[in-house]
Amino acid sequence: MDIHTEPIMESRLTDSTFDSLLFGVEFSDHMLLAQTEQGEWQDATILPYGNLSVPPSLSVLHYGQAVFEGMKAFYVNESTVHLFRLDDHYERLTNSCHRISIPVPPKEMFIEGLKKLVALDRAWVPNKENHSLYIRPVAFASDPIIAAKASTEYTFMIICSPVGPYYPTGVKPLDLTTSTEYVRAVVGGTGYAKAAGNYAASFQPAQEVRKDGFAQIIWLDALEHRFVEEVGTMNIFFKLKDRLITPKLTGSILSGITRKSVIALAQEMGIEVSEERIDIHDMIAAFKDGELEEVFGAGTAAVIAPIGRIHHQGENIQFDLEGRGPFATKVHKAITDLQHGRVVDTHGWVHPV
Ligand SMILES: Cc1ncc(COP(=O)(O)O)c(C=O)c1O
Repeated sequence: MDIHTEPIMESRLTDSTFDSLLFGVEFSDHMLLAQTEQGEWQDATILPYGNLSVPPSLSVLHYGQAVFEGMKAFYVNESTVHLFRLDDHYERLTNSCHRISIPVPPKEMFIEGLKKLVALDRAWVPNKENHSLYIRPVAFASDPIIAAKASTEYTFMIICSPVGPYYPTGVKPLDLTTSTEYVRAVVGGTGYAKAAGNYAASFQPAQEVRKDGFAQIIWLDALEHRFVEEVGTMNIFFKLKDRLITPKLTGSILSGITRKSVIALAQEMGIEVSEERIDIHDMIAAFKDGELEEVFGAGTAAVIAPIGRIHHQGENIQFDLEGRGPFATKVHKAITDLQHGRVVDTHGWVHPV
């Protein structure tokens, strides 16, 4: 499989590109594009970032047959940027593709294409604290046919967007609420896949709770509305006095790469970690007993986001907290130090480009 490059004539990068970046608004000079022919992936091309011309009948616009990934490249020094846990992102893309019936883009195209693209656009990786180049691989159905069935042809793209700090005005603990009206996913559905439709379905419930002053919904299981699942684009952790717990992957939760990293790093810090079904009522009780010390979200965008309050049917878990709690601060530092090459990577997680 070859990756051809058609470089841009003149970069769009300016001295002010990295000032007050909004998430996912600016895009780097190049993108990777590949398509299938008779269902087989063809050579990829890296070409100038630009619009696609698609027919109104494009299958994905009608049936949402699309999956994506979200990852980042980090500035290390003038000659190096780091990509993080590429193999894990590829494995998750593979799982998502299988569930949504999309032929899996070849690993070589994903890994080598990413490395080539990021090397070409490395000037777009900001050399600024808490900044990075967000990378969005996406695969979608591209038959020009409006029949309700799996497409026969597909498109794969990788686009890159320089992003600033998730909390531009300082880390603020999130105010969350549960919902017993809406659910994100159900076992047997598509919750474990990074499928476009999962996100589309979450926007309206999220908008509703925002009107009541909550940042996001903390999703509960679809059957009993009791077991904690995840939050927006993050997995969730509860730091109890004697251990760290996170919801186990039952099929309705996305297997976060940051989640995996937190589990491994916490264990290395000598903390007992367990993946289990977490009943929200048990967490409320643990909070009342003084057993629950911290709650935080973990995801590529925010890395570690402190949670200040969880509201559930008139009860609250509420911490008097300014930024991240002590454990969240420690694990946030451990991950970001690795990503930016400030400590030696003994895990094989970082890929220098
Ligand atoms: C629904 C959902 N859960 C969890 C996560 C966290 O996953 P990761 O750590 O791989 O970013 C994300 C972000 O991709 C997400 O969209």
